[in-house]
Amino acid sequence: MKATWLDRSQTLSTDELLANGVYYARLETDPVHFQTPLDQLKAERGYIEQDEVALSPATPNLDAICAKFVDEHFHDDDEVRFVLEGEGIFDIRSKDDQWMRVVVERGDLIVVPANRHHRFLLTESKQIHCVRLFKDSSGWTPHYRT
Ligand SMILES: [Fe+2]
Repeated sequence: MKATWLDRSQTLSTDELLANGVYYARLETDPVHFQTPLDQLKAERGYIEQDEVALSPATPNLDAICAKFVDEHFHDDDEVRFVLEGEGIFDIRSKDDQWMRVVVERGDLIVVPANRHHRFLLTESKQIHCVRLFKDSSGWTPHYRT
C-alpha cells in the first residue's frame, strides 16, 4: 500500500488514514489465513455478506465497468476490499475534502467509509481480484457528486 496526499505528493501514514476514517490492514492472501481476520472484521463492523470480484483486460465491457467507479461518488455502505491479486487506486476525500490517494496491491485490506466521496481506478495492468464485504448489498448504489 502506498498512500499520499494527491495535491502535495506527501506520504500519508496508516494512522492519518484512520484519523480520516479509512481503515487499512495487511493480511495474508491464503484463505486459510485471511478468513479469520475477515470474520473478525465482519463481527466488529456488521458486515454480513462476502463475495469476490475480478477485473482484467479479458473482462467484457471493462471500460464501461470502470467508468462507473471513476467519477466521484459515495455509498450508503462501507466499501471494503481485500486484494488477492493485482492492484488498484482509491482516491478518497479526507474529512476536510482533500484527495488522499491509496494504491492497493495483493494483501491490502481497505475500508472506504460509508457516505465518503471517493473514486476508483485500475492501474496500467488493468487487473484486480478482491474479496468484498457488505453490510447489505442494496447499499451498493453509487451516489455521484454533483
Ligand atoms: Fe465506490
